[in-house]
Amino acid sequence: LITDVRLRRILDSRGNPTVEADVVTESGGFGRAAAPSGASTGEYEAVERPPSEAIAAAREEAVPRLVGEAYAGNQREVDAALHAADGTDDFSEIGANSAVAISMAAAKAGADVLGAPLFQHLGGAFRGQNFPIPLGNVVGGGEHAADATDIQEFLVAPVGAPSVEDAVFANATVHGTVADLLEERDVPCGKGDEGAWAPSIDDSEAFEIVDEAVSIVQDEVGFNIGFGLDVAGAELYDSETGTYEYSDRSRDTDEQIEYIAELVREYDLVYVEDPLDEDDYDAFADLTDEVGDQTLICGDDLFVTNTDRLVEGIDRGAANSILIKPNQIGTLTDAFDAIELATQNGYDPVISHRSGETEDTTIAHLAVATDAPFIKTGAVGGERTAKLNELIRIADDAT
Ligand code: PGA
Ligand code: ZN
Repeated sequence: LITDVRLRRILDSRGNPTVEADVVTESGGFGRAAAPSGASTGEYEAVERPPSEAIAAAREEAVPRLVGEAYAGNQREVDAALHAADGTDDFSEIGANSAVAISMAAAKAGADVLGAPLFQHLGGAFRGQNFPIPLGNVVGGGEHAADATDIQEFLVAPVGAPSVEDAVFANATVHGTVADLLEERDVPCGKGDEGAWAPSIDDSEAFEIVDEAVSIVQDEVGFNIGFGLDVAGAELYDSETGTYEYSDRSRDTDEQIEYIAELVREYDLVYVEDPLDEDDYDAFADLTDEVGDQTLICGDDLFVTNTDRLVEGIDRGAANSILIKPNQIGTLTDAFDAIELATQNGYDPVISHRSGETEDTTIAHLAVATDAPFIKTGAVGGERTAKLNELIRIADDAT
């Protein structure tokens, strides 16, 4: 039984405040978790409130429905109490940031009571055998950096890696190799919000550099490393003109579909996230028709971890993969339901961090607990390596 829920403001990786929750149980269980925060957020996400307001509202509405009322180990009960406390369909009352922090902290307290690792509490006794392939962000721009690439994330996916440890190190090596190649070209640069290099180059040069870095590292490690993208299409799309605005030109929807399809073929892309606007299920479906058998077409802002939007996407053949961000929907239960629905319909779930992160490692456990084929959580930087290193530890404990 939950006996205490404490909420506080802590720092995220951008230096902004976010919500941290502690959940304590009668039998001495303890869980602590913090909400991440997006910069290129989807229009249909659950609502993040300013942390001080989210905390005040959650203390008033949610905490009394949990303390002495709910069991930390009963995740559906905890998350139903959060929904009841909120009373809206987008967590605009207590804030999705308070909700997700409490939901994840309760899961950790539930695991603590059982003396089980979080992935096992969430996934059951038979989980922990399969490990997700980490998608590592090595070059990026968009909303995550000023004056860098138009495409938000150039990702690498070590699909041939024999272990999660090899995969994590391969991504970091590609990240380092990209830096060497940039230096050779005399391109100075810093990093974006997710630790990817954020050079002031155009997308075609970024493709060249990442492609070259991948080949170099592939030869070095001896296994296959794939190339992927998060286009963050909604950020490029101008709804007034109906075009995708790049630094050097614009593309109408048909041109955007063709452009992405060409990129898939030219670079053998294994993963393409949000290639099109978050409202354009039809364009997503056209692209999926064209290249969906060669690559994952993943909906992030399109689906926002929301089962209603995923049902629509499944009906219309919009994609074959969904990004899962617990804070987009507000609770672990909702995230699990989205993963379940996706898997039943042949959509690959990809568990994801946000551009604003903390040291919280819940998503590493969520990915293992749900047998997700991929996890997207950066390549370097403390708030990213917190998750990557946790995956290495989970794998180490399992063997
Ligand atoms: P965000 O970006 O966390 O800033 O929304 C990540 C993504 O688009 O996948
Ligand atoms: Zn995205």
